Formats: sequence, structure tokens, C-alpha cells
Amino acid sequence: MMETPFAKALINGLNKSQKTLEPKFFYDAEGSRLFEEITQLDAYYPTRTELSILETQADEIAAFLGPGVVLVEPGAGAPTKAEKLLAAMKSPMAYAPGDISIDHLERAMSPLRLRFPQLRIAPFRLDFDDAFDLPNDVAALGPVAIFFPGSTIGNFSPEGARRLLRRFSRIDNAQTLLIGVDLKKDKTRLEHAYDDPEGVTAAFNLNLLARANRELATDFDLSSFRHFARYDESLGRVEMHLESVRDQTVNVLGKPIHFLEGESIHTENSYKFKVSDFQAMAAEAGWSPVKVWTDPDNLFAELAFSKLSL
Ligand code: AVI
Repeated sequence: MMETPFAKALINGLNKSQKTLEPKFFYDAEGSRLFEEITQLDAYYPTRTELSILETQADEIAAFLGPGVVLVEPGAGAPTKAEKLLAAMKSPMAYAPGDISIDHLERAMSPLRLRFPQLRIAPFRLDFDDAFDLPNDVAALGPVAIFFPGSTIGNFSPEGARRLLRRFSRIDNAQTLLIGVDLKKDKTRLEHAYDDPEGVTAAFNLNLLARANRELATDFDLSSFRHFARYDESLGRVEMHLESVRDQTVNVLGKPIHFLEGESIHTENSYKFKVSDFQAMAAEAGWSPVKVWTDPDNLFAELAFSKLSL
């Protein structure tokens, strides 16, 4: 039990002066369910805004991607967004979604297989911390278009994001990139999106501690921690934390971890972008900007790139 990646990350993160826990541990079965719930909330605008962009601009986006391409989606949870693209694309050759849980992916693909019976659907296992390889021979079927929606790129550090974009550019036969990013906007709107009145984001954040109690030898008292989200304008990111509401000692895998009242565990960064800044970062990682689609309120953007030839 001590040796699981979650156990190691917990011990490591809670021994830092600013206690931290990586956001990838949010997504156990309960966390994934809570995240789906977040995407339906009034306060959380990114999902529905991106879907509306993909819907209203489907033809232009499909024209950008071109005919006969292989659509690769790293970190695909549900294929809702890809489905909109695939419906508009001209004779796509294959759809290859990558996710940490291949079982989850296989289940999620059933509606897509029914809707596109001719399409080759090739899920593959992908952990962003490891090297990733496309399923056998998929890249040979046609030019590869990488689709990375949801502003998932915002959960990486700036260096991590650059590294990831660089890795995308090295995927076999990669030619184009379509990426969804959440845009900078006023603090109130952003903080509301990450601290909804229904308390779903709070439950999602606290599930990290509940997960530790379920899977590992820890005794977090969930009522002694509170969720908070704040937008740091200078860093351009929403931070999520779990703050200890009192002085307390928690038993973590046999070791006492002390929390002062007001001390927090930093659980997530969600970077927000300015289109031109993002394009500059992508250019450093081998991608040349082609086009941008946004919604009427400029909340979210879908950015198109083609691979820079070396
Ligand atoms: C998955 N990711 C892009 C979400 C975000 O907005 O950063 C995760 C999330 N955290 C709180 N609400 C949603």
C-alpha cells in the first residue's frame, strides 16, 4: 500500500513547506464523477462554451483539419467534444483517444461506435508522466491532427505546458493541433467558476482527502478542511487549496503531519491565457498559429496550429 504512486505523492507533497498534492490524483471514480458534475454547473462556463464554439464553427474547424486525417485526443475523458468534430470532418481515418484508464475509455466509446460504425476507434493508454506511443499503425493511416480540448493544458506549469506541446509535435505524423484554452477574465467570474454555490468543486477538492482515507492509512477529518479558490492575477492562474480550519495533526501512513490553523494544501493550478501569449509559447514548442475561434463573450478559445517544418 505504501508504494502506490498516490501514497508516494502524498508523503512527498505533505512534507513540503507549502504542502501540495498533484491534481492528477483528483480523478478516481468518485472524482471523475464529480468532475462530470462540475462541467454541468452554471458557474463552470468552460465546457459549455467550448462545446458551443465547436458546434457553431464545426465546418471551418473541419476544413482546417482537412480530409482523411487521424484524430488523436490525449487525455480524453468523454468523447463529447470529439464527436462534434468527427461529425463535421470529411472522411476521418481514425479516432485515437488516450487516457490513463483504458477500461473507462473503452466504455465511453460505445455511443461513438454506434454513431460512426465505419470509423476506426483506437483507444490507447496514456499517462502524461510517461512517454506516449500511438496504437500500432494508426499514424500511417493519414496525417495526424492532435485535439487537446478543455483547457487541460492550463493544469500544467508553464514549463510543463511547453514540454507537452513539444511532445505533441513529435507524435508520429503530427501535422496539426487544435487546442482549447480558457482565457484571462475578471477575477470574480473566475473564482465563482472554481467555487460554485452548489459546493460541487469543494466536494471535488475534498475528495482528495476522502480518497486518501479510502485507499491509504490516513485519518483526515474532512470537516476540518475547507476548499478555497483564488485567482492570482500576476501569475494568471486560479489556485485551489484545502485549508486547515484548526491546528491539527493527521496520521499519514504512520507518520504525524501537523497543520497550523489557516495552513493549506495547494491542490491545483488552472492557468488562464491571452491568445497571443499562448501562440508565442506554442511557437517555441514547434507550432505555427493558423486560426483562432472564440465565443461572443471571449471566455474561451479554440486555437489551430500547424507543425513548423524544421
Ligand atoms: C480539467 N481541468 C481543465 C479543470 C480546470 O478547469 O482546471 C479541472 C477543474 N478544477 C476545478 N474545476 C475544474
